Amino acid sequence: MRILLLGAPGSGKGTQAKLLGERYGIPQISTGDLLREAAAGGGKLGRRAKAAMAAGELVSDEVVLGMVEQRLKKPDTKRGFILDGFPRNIPQAQALDGLLNWLGRPLQVTLYINVNQDTLVKRLTGRITCGGCGAIYNEFFSPPRKSGVCDACGRRKLKKRGDDNAATAHNRLVVYERDTEPLVDYYKAQQKLRTVSGDGGVKDICARIGNLIDADIRPLSTAVELGGGGGDGVQTIISGGQVVAAESPSAAKKSAPAKKKKKTAAVSRAGTTKVAGKKTARKKPTTTRRKK
Ligand code: AP5
Ligand code: MG
Repeated sequence: MRILLLGAPGSGKGTQAKLLGERYGIPQISTGDLLREAAAGGGKLGRRAKAAMAAGELVSDEVVLGMVEQRLKKPDTKRGFILDGFPRNIPQAQALDGLLNWLGRPLQVTLYINVNQDTLVKRLTGRITCGGCGAIYNEFFSPPRKSGVCDACGRRKLKKRGDDNAATAHNRLVVYERDTEPLVDYYKAQQKLRTVSGDGGVKDICARIGNLIDADIRPLSTAVELGGGGGDGVQTIISGGQVVAAESPSAAKKSAPAKKKKKTAAVSRAGTTKVAGKKTARKKPTTTRRKK
């Protein structure tokens, strides 16, 4: 499952990415979190990132792209990922398309969380984050049960992000409108955009997103390709020429239709896998399964 969460600062991308990551067992990749880590670590790159973030400006594409490429090459992303806060402009989106196509794992859907501007400002200025586990709260909408203590990990590490003040929040919204909002049309043109209303409670929004994912990605599973993608014995479920899910051989064994589904995937001499009448380019023409 390869998902991108798009939306203005404060639209709830981080909150929803955490819930979706737990639900589907895939990692959240937040460039904001990666950059905050780099900033905390010091160094030239960290200092440059810190200055840009404090001003509400974007960090340079070169720095961000390098970080994302490294992160996407880690093995935990083979089952999928949720991109949160990246890409932030058209050049980043084009570079991401190139990278994911090269990795043979193109994006499946971009979920655009749409929230009105007044709500955004209140969400940003009220945000509190746990420095221990990353849990996100809001002093207006969702404060922790005990003041100053994280509900999730019990530590007293709740703090405000450096850029969550009115002036920086305002500039981030200007930068969003100028640089990031054009991505709505970019993904619309690719027919990958789905819009979700980001107003209402966190759980309601999560349910809306879950419904879209379940409607768009999950029921399309029409075939199981053995050993696809990772070369680590993972079974990859293909739909419409795209990888839509993966599971370990033991889990796949338990699902009775696996054998029947396997027959629907045929590898041609040209090195393409034909699934339900559609073709998708493959790196390896044959499939492998770990020996027992
Ligand atoms: P980043 O950390 O990515 O911030 P952002 O995209 O600006 O978005 P936020 O994290 O502010 O908001 P969010 O949508 O995640 O909302 P959240 O769930 O936290 O980026 C920070 C900076 O890093 C950027 O300004 C830039 O300098 C740099 N950067 C990052 N990526 C970059 C890139 N790709 N290229 C260049 N530079 C980059 O929720 C917000 C608040 O609302 C929380 O308090 C939450 O509890 C609350 N809330 C959420 N949902 C609800 C709800 N339904 N009801 C009530 N409250 C809610
Ligand atoms: Mg965030």
